[in-house]
Amino acid sequence: MTLSGTGAPASSLSFDFRPARTSDGATLWRLVQATGTLELNSPYLYLLMATDFGDTCLLARYQGQPAGAVIGYRSPREPEAAFVWQVGVLPAYRGQGLGLQMLEAWHQLPANRDARWITATVDPDNRASRALFGALARRLCAPLAVQPHFTPDLFPVDHPAEPLLRIGPIPRDEPGHPR
Ligand SMILES: CC(C)(COP(=O)(O)OP(=O)(O)OC[C@H]1O[C@@H](n2cnc3c(N)ncnc32)[C@H](O)[C@@H]1OP(=O)(O)O)[C@@H](O)C(=O)NCCC(=O)NCCS
Repeated sequence: MTLSGTGAPASSLSFDFRPARTSDGATLWRLVQATGTLELNSPYLYLLMATDFGDTCLLARYQGQPAGAVIGYRSPREPEAAFVWQVGVLPAYRGQGLGLQMLEAWHQLPANRDARWITATVDPDNRASRALFGALARRLCAPLAVQPHFTPDLFPVDHPAEPLLRIGPIPRDEPGHPR
């Protein structure tokens, strides 16, 4: 099974968003594969994320079909932060606001909405991803900073640096944020 989308403009479409469950593990794997640029990990890892971290993962669907996803978790080492591990939108729906909608919906999930920080590692060459997180920071009225994190020497294979992008502190009066 491959994932391709409808070809209709995302801005005119109505998506539903929900947390992931075990049965979404295979879909998350297929979605990541279909993005074409995200690093594809093992099917087992997506199954694990959908099962043990499903409350901090978001699946976006159009008419019941997958359109995009955010895969994340709350690190026990930084309880006030929600970490975005992978975010992807199927090519047919890109550039029309779905990525930003998904991240906002992901931040508002019950398991994430108390997070004062949103973190992610982002390839500096990934312009779309940088722009997406920049748009999220503006939407949340929060500063965005980038700091060194995973340097190439930490990887067992050739791999570009993965700096850490930090959005926050997220103001508590942000709509959708608990008072
Ligand atoms: C990154 C990605 C999720 C963005 O999704 P999207 O639905 O296209 O993003 P949106 O339409 O919500 O756009 C959000 C912002 O990013 C900008 N943007 C989107 N695609 C862009 C591109 N290719 N180049 C530059 N800016 C881009 C938009 O202009 C918007 O910024 P603005 O509000 O300042 O105008 C999508 O391109 C994707 O799935 N890419 C492949 C996977 C990937 O690289 N994921 C990120 C790494 S974890």
